[in-house]
Amino acid sequence: MQASLIWPSPKTLPTFDPLLKIGILASGKGSNFLAIIKSIESKKLDARIQLLIVNNQNCKAIDIAKNYDIPYLVIDHRDYSNRIDYDKQIVSHFNKYLVEGIVMAGWMRISSIELIKAFPHRIINIHPSILPSFKGQDAIEQTIKSGVKLSGCTVHFVEEDIDSGPIIIQASVPVLDTDDKYTLLKRIQCQEHKIIILGISIAGKIWRDIA
Ligand code: GRF
Repeated sequence: MQASLIWPSPKTLPTFDPLLKIGILASGKGSNFLAIIKSIESKKLDARIQLLIVNNQNCKAIDIAKNYDIPYLVIDHRDYSNRIDYDKQIVSHFNKYLVEGIVMAGWMRISSIELIKAFPHRIINIHPSILPSFKGQDAIEQTIKSGVKLSGCTVHFVEEDIDSGPIIIQASVPVLDTDDKYTLLKRIQCQEHKIIILGISIAGKIWRDIA
């Protein structure tokens, strides 16, 4: 196994009593969503997932939510004529479920100001690069094409500009000469599943402090 580094690497994580109420947005296979569920189950993370929202019926996170009895909603962006109306729906559901913060766990949508201003400093995202390098949807392809030898992942607060908000935590992994996008993604995702938990804990402490 190749070396990896997580920075910062907190020795003790904040605890939450009552449990931190989080909402999840996901579009893809849901491995980060599952990592969050497992860390809650094993009591590493004092949180409760109030609601999962996915933007497409094929999102694998739906099956995970069903398996673990987590409330979920499919809100298909194709049913809305603009981003603002779509995000208003998301906001109203998360408000109904009383979430304190939102985790974008593989959310393949650009957020409008409507969502960001409804949850100021209360939305975090995970991205498969060491930001500010390689922003955008094809971060892994950009990484491989660039020839850099170090990659990784970042948890950051969400602001209007894509992949640009304040960084909470990052992990680095080597890029091997033999890597293709699948092998590199796999190595990065092993670290994502760790820093997403740390990122939620650190952000959650801030959410409680500013409440
Ligand atoms: C992750 O690699 C994350 O960095 C990116 O989307 C991917 C989602 O993976 N934003 P999964 O759906 O959690 O497996």
